[in-house]
Amino acid sequence: QRWQWHLYQQVDSTNAQAQRLIAESGVRPLVVIAEQQTAGRGRRGRQWSSPFGQNLYMSFVEPVSGGAQGLEGLSLVVGLTLVQTLEACGYQGCQLKWPNDILLNGAKLAGVLLEISGDLTADAVVVIGVGVNVLMEQDGTIDQGWTSLRRSGQKALLDRNQLIAAFAQRLAQALALFARDGFAAFQAQWQACDAWLGAEVQVISGANILAGSNLGVDTTGALRLLTAEGERQVSGGEVSLRLS
Ligand code: BTN
Repeated sequence: QRWQWHLYQQVDSTNAQAQRLIAESGVRPLVVIAEQQTAGRGRRGRQWSSPFGQNLYMSFVEPVSGGAQGLEGLSLVVGLTLVQTLEACGYQGCQLKWPNDILLNGAKLAGVLLEISGDLTADAVVVIGVGVNVLMEQDGTIDQGWTSLRRSGQKALLDRNQLIAAFAQRLAQALALFARDGFAAFQAQWQACDAWLGAEVQVISGANILAGSNLGVDTTGALRLLTAEGERQVSGGEVSLRLS
């Protein structure tokens, strides 16, 4: 067993709880799972809707060495691993939207939030937060198009325990491969799941907008954008993507 498991009825955020566990008892591979989050967080300071008993809220703690380099690729690998897990569990048509949204029928099904604890030059740890909408059918608080596995209407696995087990197993394998070969080992598979490959897109970073066509991802996981001034590589972080 690779990870130590920590299960809760309710936490503020599994990412926050994972960081507290590390602070209390040191860095080791662990998983935090909760039935409900009272302050679930998404990328770019957004909230993540986390009602009780409906969805998956999980955080995996991984020690990292070698600095921040490559962490962007890691977040893409996590999204890809989720897509592959869902396919293996019987779901068809899951796709990725760079950097790490998981889409089903064009609507957001799941998200990944990586947070770094500690000093990246020394022993750091990355908290890999993953939220998947599983049973949720209604939510008036979400301000973007969303879906859930149940909403998709596909006759496939809905048991959250089995989904967690399937994902954890694949994630352990993916992390080992990533540690050895980096994102390059996943680049082609990731691109094959890219919902917007070839599309005209805009990269939004605060007030800045960069428009171009989506050429896919490079070996580090950066987005390759063909702009009017030529090709640009865009790193993840706090940017987001929309269709032109
Ligand atoms: C996104 O904005 O797309 C990322 C959403 C990440 C949500 C998950 S749920 C489990 C973990 N704990 C959190 O507070 N957020 C992540």
